[in-house]
Amino acid sequence: MKIIIRDSAAEASAAVADMLLQQIGEKPDSVLGLPTGGTPLAVYARLRSAYDSGRGSYKSITTFNLDEYLGLSADDPASYAYYMRENLFVHVDIDPDRTHIPNGSAPDADAEAKRYEALITACGGIDLMLLGLGRNAHIGFNEPGSAHNSRTRRVALNASTIAANAAYFAPNAEQPAHAITMGIGTILECRRIVVLATGSEKAAAVAASVKGPSADIVPGSALIRHPNTTFVLDKAAARDLERARTSELQV
Ligand code: F6R
Repeated sequence: MKIIIRDSAAEASAAVADMLLQQIGEKPDSVLGLPTGGTPLAVYARLRSAYDSGRGSYKSITTFNLDEYLGLSADDPASYAYYMRENLFVHVDIDPDRTHIPNGSAPDADAEAKRYEALITACGGIDLMLLGLGRNAHIGFNEPGSAHNSRTRRVALNASTIAANAAYFAPNAEQPAHAITMGIGTILECRRIVVLATGSEKAAAVAASVKGPSADIVPGSALIRHPNTTFVLDKAAARDLERARTSELQV
């Protein structure tokens, strides 16, 4: 596991955007795994401005998002499908047919999860998976207790996750309590994983995920077993790592 620590969230986000640009530069038909949430917003903003200045082509890229709320259509402003269109897809030359997000309004969530998993396999697997980290160390919507070999499936969200994400919903909107998420086992099959975590509210989750022990109660700690994972942190998120004094560590 590699850990990169930058002074600010903006610098950590810039480092991650550069990794993505390098990936699609080196392999123009890369398959990318993408997260939503507050953390990657600055990464997507950087990718948009890089694209505007002629850097990065998404023409042959395929994407798979980590998760989607159940019960929200792709047109719902709180859906992750909407988020991805607004924050990245409509701004770059990506083929919408190659952008994949679990269908939150599928009548049969189990069948949808199976379809999604099969589609990832059919596309040759994911080259680079970008992850955020929940305050409770969830990855995707794999909440604490999720098996590290879990597959894409329907899950119930923890009360703490629902509270953390309430800000993304209109005041009177009904907030979903279930989602479809890639499983931890599915995530571990990605060839390369980059985790971006910023802010002191993520410090405990980062420390538990990086230091281990690897246990179901800490979903992020599953990444310890992955051969090519990089955590990109700002100083605040790295606060609880003992050896956070140098700017780049290998653990
Ligand atoms: C989002 C996702 C979640 C978030 C996590 C952190 O697709 O899968 O695991 O990455 O909840 O969210 P933020 O960045 O809003 O703190």
